[in-house]
Amino acid sequence: MYSRREFLKGAFIGGISLTLFKKDALAIISKASKNIPKNISPEKLSANEDFWNSVQSAFEVDRTFINLNNGGVSPSPSIVLNNQKDYIDFTNRLPAYNLWRYLEPNVETVRARLAKSFGCLKSEVAITRNTSEAMEIIQNGIDLKPGDEVLTTIQDYPRMLATFDQRARREGITVNKISFPVPLKNFNVLVNRLEKAITPKTKLLLVSHVVYLTGQILPVREISRMAHEKGVLVLCDGAHSFNHFPFKLKDLECDFFGTSLHKWTHAPVGTGFLYVRKGLIEKVWPLMGAPKKLDKSIKKFEQIGTHPAAAHNAVAEALAFNEKLGLERKIARLRYLNLRWINRVKSYKNVSFSVNVEDPSQWGALVGVNIKGVDVRKLADYLFKRHKILVLPIRHKAFRGIRVSPSIYTQISEIDYFADVLEKVVNNEIKSVLK
Ligand SMILES: Cc1ncc(COP(=O)(O)O)c(C=O)c1O
Repeated sequence: MYSRREFLKGAFIGGISLTLFKKDALAIISKASKNIPKNISPEKLSANEDFWNSVQSAFEVDRTFINLNNGGVSPSPSIVLNNQKDYIDFTNRLPAYNLWRYLEPNVETVRARLAKSFGCLKSEVAITRNTSEAMEIIQNGIDLKPGDEVLTTIQDYPRMLATFDQRARREGITVNKISFPVPLKNFNVLVNRLEKAITPKTKLLLVSHVVYLTGQILPVREISRMAHEKGVLVLCDGAHSFNHFPFKLKDLECDFFGTSLHKWTHAPVGTGFLYVRKGLIEKVWPLMGAPKKLDKSIKKFEQIGTHPAAAHNAVAEALAFNEKLGLERKIARLRYLNLRWINRVKSYKNVSFSVNVEDPSQWGALVGVNIKGVDVRKLADYLFKRHKILVLPIRHKAFRGIRVSPSIYTQISEIDYFADVLEKVVNNEIKSVLK
């Protein structure tokens, strides 16, 4: 049997020794923080390139590309990746023991840290592999009779809409999807439309915290309060919000929340969590069967069989990284990066955005831009093939344009390069992207 000391000793010989030579993200942030004035505001710090150059060095990314699709999935800081690799090596030495007896129980540390960070009880947090799994546990696990209604929006994530549509085909529930304006200048428009769409048969309301198409942050707490007054439960899709900007459960007041930690938490690919309000756990069936004794336990949602502990255990390191950096600083920098290219093109008449760019409190790392007369797919292809800039083309009823999402490791020179190219497109200098 391994003691912790022996584990560490073995790991040093086998793999963790490598980590020591790689960059320690926490030390990097500590060092950078010592060089900035005390009490500097996050907004002021957002323009301090010395500080952010240090943060950038915590990541080892492929800088032959300019990655402006960090909303899809994020790279991890080297320390997180190395942690995960070390856990994989350690698992492999004696899997049936090292995985189940040593690594898996340590998921409890991750659960406790997630609960603290989200502002809920440990017993309300299930570790999942992504947002999809977290959301589908609720979407498929709540009892609904034929004729019962669920309410959502056309701007919610396609997989989540497909999940409800499948229940409609299979069990005869009704799925009601409302639309709302882009940009959403007035939150009341959305809240009122949802309220009007609630009927006595509505049981569950699904709403995104950040809309994947546009980067719009939605007023989840107002929606939850309105829905709760009508006896409707609220499921919040937080794929893009957790560790993107600071908030807690009390700011949302939802009943269920699902997120992916491989997006804005920079944790390993294949990590996420689900929050379920205490009294509701027993009302939700897990996706994979669990014994009766787990009916009231959050762990019934984790009965997925053998899986890598390496990914979810390395979440602890990613959470430490976010804490050390500070979410106020993170969101201020992300807005700063986006405003830098937005300001270059916003005065052009042929340019429109997916969000109200004059009110950065409504968005963060994700912003969509559309240029009149330009084909979105051709533009994304041109940016990638000609300039190695990765963006997401969006062609949706609610919004067409490219979605731009830099990250904390993005350099100012990369944003400026993108802005130079975009300005040429806006000025109609690039004929190949025209419709
Ligand atoms: C709003 C939203 N929900 C759910 C998902 C699914 O996330 P995952 O693929 O990590 O499960 C995404 C992915 O981008 C998303 O944007």
